[in-house]
Amino acid sequence: MQITSSSSKYSVKHYPDSVRKWQKEGNYFYFHTAETILEVRIISDKIVRFRFAADGKFQRDFSYALSEKLEESPVNFGIREFEEVFEIYTDAIRIWVARDNLRLTITDTEGRVINQDEMGFHWQHYLLKGGKIVYCSKQIQEGECFYGLGDKPTDMNLRGKRLENYGTDAYGFQKDTDPLYRNIPFYYGLHHGIGYGIFFDNTFRTLFDFGHERDDVCSFWARGGEMNYYFMYGPDLLQVAEAYTKITGTAELPPLWALGYQQCRWSYYPDKRVMEIAAEFRKRQIPCDVIHLDIDYMEGFRCFTWSKEGFSDPVKLGRDLSAQGFKMVVIIDPGIKSDPDYDIYKQGMERDYFCKRADGALMEGDVWPGKCVFPDYTNPEVREWWSNLFKELVESGVRGVWNDMNEPAVFEMGTFPEDVRHDYDGEDVSHRKAHNVYGHLMSKATAAGLRKYLMPNRPFVITRSCYAGAQRWASVWTGDNVSEWEHLWLANVQCQRLAVSGISFAGSDIGGFIGEPDGELYTRWIQLATFHPLMRTHSASNETGFNQEPWSFGSKYEFIVKRFIQLRYRLLPYLYTTFWQYSHHGTPMLRPLAFVAQQDPQTYNRSHEFMLGDALLISHVDGPGVKEKEVYLPAGRWYYFFNDQVFEGGQTVTIPTPLDEMPLFVKAGAVVPNYPGIQYVGERPIDEMILNVYYCEQPTASMLYEDAGDHYGYKDGQFNTIRYKQVSDKQQFRLKKRFFGQYQASYKKYRVLVHGLPFKPTEYVVDGKAYKLNARNFAVGVVKVMVERKFEELILR
Ligand code: GLC
Repeated sequence: MQITSSSSKYSVKHYPDSVRKWQKEGNYFYFHTAETILEVRIISDKIVRFRFAADGKFQRDFSYALSEKLEESPVNFGIREFEEVFEIYTDAIRIWVARDNLRLTITDTEGRVINQDEMGFHWQHYLLKGGKIVYCSKQIQEGECFYGLGDKPTDMNLRGKRLENYGTDAYGFQKDTDPLYRNIPFYYGLHHGIGYGIFFDNTFRTLFDFGHERDDVCSFWARGGEMNYYFMYGPDLLQVAEAYTKITGTAELPPLWALGYQQCRWSYYPDKRVMEIAAEFRKRQIPCDVIHLDIDYMEGFRCFTWSKEGFSDPVKLGRDLSAQGFKMVVIIDPGIKSDPDYDIYKQGMERDYFCKRADGALMEGDVWPGKCVFPDYTNPEVREWWSNLFKELVESGVRGVWNDMNEPAVFEMGTFPEDVRHDYDGEDVSHRKAHNVYGHLMSKATAAGLRKYLMPNRPFVITRSCYAGAQRWASVWTGDNVSEWEHLWLANVQCQRLAVSGISFAGSDIGGFIGEPDGELYTRWIQLATFHPLMRTHSASNETGFNQEPWSFGSKYEFIVKRFIQLRYRLLPYLYTTFWQYSHHGTPMLRPLAFVAQQDPQTYNRSHEFMLGDALLISHVDGPGVKEKEVYLPAGRWYYFFNDQVFEGGQTVTIPTPLDEMPLFVKAGAVVPNYPGIQYVGERPIDEMILNVYYCEQPTASMLYEDAGDHYGYKDGQFNTIRYKQVSDKQQFRLKKRFFGQYQASYKKYRVLVHGLPFKPTEYVVDGKAYKLNARNFAVGVVKVMVERKFEELILR
């Protein structure tokens, strides 16, 4: 039989033909052609799933991405039959299914096209490997831009790119390296100001082409599995982001300390060195909450062991660190050393928990410890076993775990061969289907273990690889980057892109992992990372002996680095509130400018500027000796953070960039809550909450979320949401507060700092009672007043 010829019936592409029959079952519709079935599931008025059974049989409906809480919202929907199409409608969209070929056109209620199939769904036998390649192609709309797709280190707008997802240990990756560590088959389209999203829930190697091969066609496909995608209509891109987290789940609130500064190195060794580093932070009064232990804390790189020589008394180390206010986070890799005397290896062998090749031989490969075997995390029993292994680590004082090498990475081979078998929760599949969820499920099992043993404290997990939806249990870092200026740009783009791909809790190795930054690069990197949800310095400096701590570059740099880490700690209540918005609504913490001002085409291709939360706009200095920087400000008014100079938005502004400043702007009208200076979370009870309020003539709303910063009391109502409304005019500033909640915060007073008043007030009025302002209430450009925590209205006039 000749199967290589392209004309062979085995290699031809199959396209659905005409609809023979259709039926409706609840909120599911089925359209049958001679060969194919299309299933349309209405999830909400704006979220619809499309699933195709290529040759008439659906596969198991199972996903590692979906939130356990994904529920259909009750909506009005229905179907109408026309000569050429079926029209399924909701209150927000219309879906036309072509009778001839199942091609889809989705419009809004006014008939504006949101998304339209080109060839739509089609498929092909996968001659080399078996199974099917499933495709979907869409028409690119005029001026359409594309965003999302996880950690891709490339331009923000993906138009013209072809990219793929197959988790890869991309040591020293560069701009445009593809694929990287994470697998997030979710993208956004934006055209005519209308935004939508498509999440292709398929764990095989997936590919996306955004007009690379053909200018006007966007297509996505997978080398196996089913064509199964969720369509989400905005029209706002941020609404699409929220819809995506409705599908794949929201992040839990982390312990507040995990938003503090974290220090890491490959490796701090031995324990004495760890304590020296801790002492140095406290001596120099540079705030820090976390110290990470890289692989050398283990005995011969055996996971869940401690080096007898270097870390002989982990319990004492944990206690000593804790006494200084540090949390200990340790690395755990998936590779288990093949060593018959090693307990974890023995347990896994006895229970048959390690991955095997197709012929039944163990999947063995070299990683740090030498020859290793690898748990099959796609087996729920293995995940349970793995989660139990964290008991002792937690008892030793470990407060968080860092999962690495879980693409999975194997030296020389790169990763597992495709024939390796996996349980896949009872399905029994090859590595081709399980590869992209290996690290995902490892981190899931790790988080489950930490949650169990750290209770009532909240767990903290960082993972290198994952699939869509990992935000439910883990944070990520961008992997093995390089100490080069370009990597600062990459870190910026990657963190923004991850945030709009569901994973806000992300950061880069500050200063670069490979190589040695100079003081200027390190300082600029710290500045950018002050505004990344995960803020961690890490370096591979064990061999060179190079030091990468905030004080390693001399006092000039240390002074500035310290100021930015202090700023990070002052901003903690703002960051935490932004995290709550993300955790509660799924709103990305970092927002690329296109997501902030999607009606403004100036924002579509911008990658430097982004917003952290509702109030702060950040750009970064991306080269040595840069004296000034152009920043695009979207419509509105903006205060330059360092001197309160006001800029009108809708234009590019140029600002000077001395080393101790960076492009940082606050939106007019914002209320930015600040802590007073602390060295670490929980150092002392917070005795006042500082509110930086930026005057604005238009009415504006802001909020503060607060709870204990750890534990789960907030799930029983132990939290507060505090809403601020600023309604001012040219003679009067007015701030109203509405309080909701039952959490007893430690502070009794607000210190309110009002920036940018266009008049000089003589008195302030708190809940109707007037007081004279005196010289002490005035500082450069700011009016300061202290008010009781329970105030409801503050007026300056
Ligand atoms: C990998 C990780 C890196 C870590 C090193 C040693 O390269 O990405 O962060 O330090 O392994 O564990």
